[in-house]
Amino acid sequence: LMETFTLTNGVEIPCVGFGTWQTPDGETAVQAVKAALEDGYRHIDAAAIYGNEESVGRAIAESGVPRGELFVTSKLWNDEHGYETTLRAFDKTLKDLGLEYLDLYLIHWPVPAKFKNNWQKKNAETWQAFEELYKEGRVRAVGVSNFLPHHVEELKKTAEIMPMVNQIEYHPGLMQKELVEYSQKEGMLIEAYSPLGTGKMLGNETLKGIADKYGKSVAQVCIRWVLQNGVLPLPKSVTPSRIADNARVFDFEIAADDMAVIDAMVDPDGPTNDPDNFPL
Ligand code: A2P
Repeated sequence: LMETFTLTNGVEIPCVGFGTWQTPDGETAVQAVKAALEDGYRHIDAAAIYGNEESVGRAIAESGVPRGELFVTSKLWNDEHGYETTLRAFDKTLKDLGLEYLDLYLIHWPVPAKFKNNWQKKNAETWQAFEELYKEGRVRAVGVSNFLPHHVEELKKTAEIMPMVNQIEYHPGLMQKELVEYSQKEGMLIEAYSPLGTGKMLGNETLKGIADKYGKSVAQVCIRWVLQNGVLPLPKSVTPSRIADNARVFDFEIAADDMAVIDAMVDPDGPTNDPDNFPL
């Protein structure tokens, strides 16, 4: 949990993050994040659209964990793309989280429905605001989420600073190999949201067989598999026993032949959303 990946700018990022998507706001979110921090998680993955940043902030404050030990990510929502709107949204997120700075800020989706016809210009303006926040030290790293290569290529036309992270949907059966290779070649660390397939991989028979062999849970095998592929997993749970379980992934190693078996899995559903046609 205390092991880290290093971003292109030298910033270290704890290599398992705690996901907060679909975590209900209020006491549930506060207790979940507190449990994670007590279990040793030091990396929290938040977003404005998750609607629970105030609760995440409360948990951080009440945990007593020094700010400097934490890595906190948030994401700019789709209706805020643009220069001024980004700066305002960033301030709101900081205030909700009760923080003075963020460790990582991401553009949540490349092509919001609202900006379907001018997403290129909107992302360029948004990125200019990101670069400013970065230079001011209000965020320690900047990146994107759900960006496909053509979205990154478009951003590169005007970007001065390259995105350091691309956060994508990634789990057994959904490796998005080309996207991962492209992103890594461009210097981005890949972060995996829904590393358990939002839970649907947990009943998979292939994974159960492998998990039994190592005396581990299917969730732990998924998380460990993500790590061994050089990707940063962001498992989500609101259940204390599972939160603890998901952190115990540093005391075993999946052998190459089992890695190959998992790598070869195919999720017939494919990605949950098409980044070029996101409904919001
Ligand atoms: P819950 O939050 O109710 O504990 P993902 O990280 O891929 O989005 O998956 C999250 C889903 O998987 C949630 O429904 C979560 O349930 C469930 N989950 C997370 N960790 C575990 C675990 N170790 N065992 C079983 N289910 C888990």
